[in-house]
Amino acid sequence: MSAIGQLVSGVAHELNNPLAGISAFAQLLLAEKRFPPDQRTAAETIYSEARRASRIVQNLLTFARQHKAEKIPTAINQVLDDTLELRGYELRVRGIDVRREYDESIPETMADAHQLQQVFLNLITNAEQAMEQRDGHHHRLTVRTRRGSDAIRIEIEDTGAGIPANLIERIFNPFFTTKPTGSGTGLGLSISLGIVREHEGRIWAENPPQTGARFVVELPITAPRTSGEQTALPHMQSMGSDRLRVLVVDDEASVRVSLQRYLAGKGHEVETTASGEDALVRLKASKYDAVIVDMRMPDLSGEQLFERLRSNDPAHAERVIFTTGDLVNEQMRRFLDGTGRPCVPKPFEFASFDQALPAARRRA
Ligand SMILES: Nc1ncnc2c1ncn2[C@@H]1O[C@H](COP(=O)(O)OP(=O)(O)O)[C@@H](O)[C@H]1O
Ligand SMILES: [Mg+2]
Repeated sequence: MSAIGQLVSGVAHELNNPLAGISAFAQLLLAEKRFPPDQRTAAETIYSEARRASRIVQNLLTFARQHKAEKIPTAINQVLDDTLELRGYELRVRGIDVRREYDESIPETMADAHQLQQVFLNLITNAEQAMEQRDGHHHRLTVRTRRGSDAIRIEIEDTGAGIPANLIERIFNPFFTTKPTGSGTGLGLSISLGIVREHEGRIWAENPPQTGARFVVELPITAPRTSGEQTALPHMQSMGSDRLRVLVVDDEASVRVSLQRYLAGKGHEVETTASGEDALVRLKASKYDAVIVDMRMPDLSGEQLFERLRSNDPAHAERVIFTTGDLVNEQMRRFLDGTGRPCVPKPFEFASFDQALPAARRRA
């Protein structure tokens, strides 16, 4: 996994543990029969919000695993222009002057333009926010590039209040923010740091005299590789005989989408459906190596789906992997134990599916 991926997935995993605790305890409360209705509603809200938060975490994990830097020859000035274009409207509305001081002699370098744009976008957005906080000034955003002997230096400078000296060491930490809840996540700079490191570059902040904050990014100048290596894309590696056909049956769209992306990223062939009945139709029509089934679905429960397969289509029943967010349910646990099939609890870690999936493709 990339450096940025490691950072994001580290953060996501850190969040997953407390979230699992919150949702587990909310479920324990919900299992309590003599609860007054208003407290029950409160517990339900805690439970559903914990689930929502864990879906966000899943998305982060998916993002982390998906986004490998794909480095191609890149013109840094062009990426800066594209980013400024993206923020053009906001900058104009806020009356911020944009000054470009580009070194036109900088060569192309191997980089992932998409990721670098993310870095510049974070820096420019921060600059806008810093300047907005300081009313009554004439504000200016300066974007500067310069060619060094073996590196390209990019500076983004604002006329805000600058960064307090005692905070400058901490601003790149994940979740560090001085902005009010809702407006700052504290992730912009830590994600930027991850991306820049992945490009073997450096990023830091300065408080130059007379002006606000200055962020400096230094990227090494790297020439494209001459051999054909580049054409071997990273995700091609996982293709081969371990490529499985997987059907995901879950009524929750975010689960379907994230599992789809994750498994497809591993080179598997994935189909999804929100309906148990539809799953039966598909299973009748063709063969799957694995069927990931949510226990709770509106039309046909995971239990009913499994029972039907067990009597009519035992080969597919042998390929079922259950998922549930409801492992505290005693009855469900007994059912699951009886099937002898694996069950991945929600909120899940994708890696759990790697272990649960069959090792090889089923022979027709
Ligand atoms: N241009 C800037 N001027 C002043 N302070 C800044 C600037 N950019 C970043 N910071 C400080 O760094 C903190 C972290 O930034 P960031 O990681 O982007 O998270 P967020 O913008 O969500 O707070 C900000 O909350 C702010 O205190
Ligand atoms: Mg920010």
